[in-house]
Amino acid sequence: MKGIILAGGSGTRMMPNTKVTNKHLLPVYNKPMIYYPIEMLIEAGITNIMIVSGPGHAGHFLNLLGSGKEFGAKFSYEIQDEAGGIAQALGLCEDFADEEKVAIVLGDNLFQDSIVDAVKSFEKQLVGAKIFLSEVDDAHRFGVAEIEGDKIINIEEKPAEPKSNQAVTGLYMYDKQVWNVTKTLKPSVRGELEITDVNNFYVKNNQMTFEKLSGWWTDAGTFPSWLRANKLVAESEMSEDDKRLAKV
Ligand code: TTP
Repeated sequence: MKGIILAGGSGTRMMPNTKVTNKHLLPVYNKPMIYYPIEMLIEAGITNIMIVSGPGHAGHFLNLLGSGKEFGAKFSYEIQDEAGGIAQALGLCEDFADEEKVAIVLGDNLFQDSIVDAVKSFEKQLVGAKIFLSEVDDAHRFGVAEIEGDKIINIEEKPAEPKSNQAVTGLYMYDKQVWNVTKTLKPSVRGELEITDVNNFYVKNNQMTFEKLSGWWTDAGTFPSWLRANKLVAESEMSEDDKRLAKV
């Protein structure tokens, strides 16, 4: 399975921090944000990784991450010319995937859980996709899964009245059908190609599996969620001495 990290977008909600740099290069505790999804993929044995970013800061990603050798991985780079949505960024990676299954992670998402077992289970899944759900208090900010029995029956993007508190997190696994799906997408009302439309293709075809995360998960793309990400990482990484010094 190959890995894809999406690090394009505008980062407008993090201004002025994102005025001269990219959101995913900002630190979360002691590392640039993008290290977290990269390390999660590598820990699960996915070492051939494409990094998609916008035209403004692509060189910074290259300077920071290089060939991937330091990580024991191989990195490739792709430019998304405009912030046309997560599914548009994904659509740029068809040649890179070369018909293999792919694991996509949003560059501003942090997961406590290891994905080693999920990767193994998706390698065995004959067709389809797999997504990862997390229980949240603010479901209206996310894609929300409607579940019946042990199946997802629909996903709603940022619903005003969420049908559950199960948010679709920024880790998605797809088979090669995804490249046909991304080609048929139409922009949503906010003018973006939506990953929820990709996921609903698999839901409608009865090919979507899912797992519920047990550890914490957060994005880091708004000021409250960025602060939360820093706290969650610090809590799990800091020594007791450092916690005393930092008064956390
Ligand atoms: P968002 O946080 O939804 O979008 P954004 O980064 O443009 O932020 P803002 O709304 O504050 O302007 O994006 C979620 C993730 O998806 C983020 O890690 C970047 C990635 N992404 C892309 O790679 N390309 C895109 O066109 C978009 C919209 C997002």
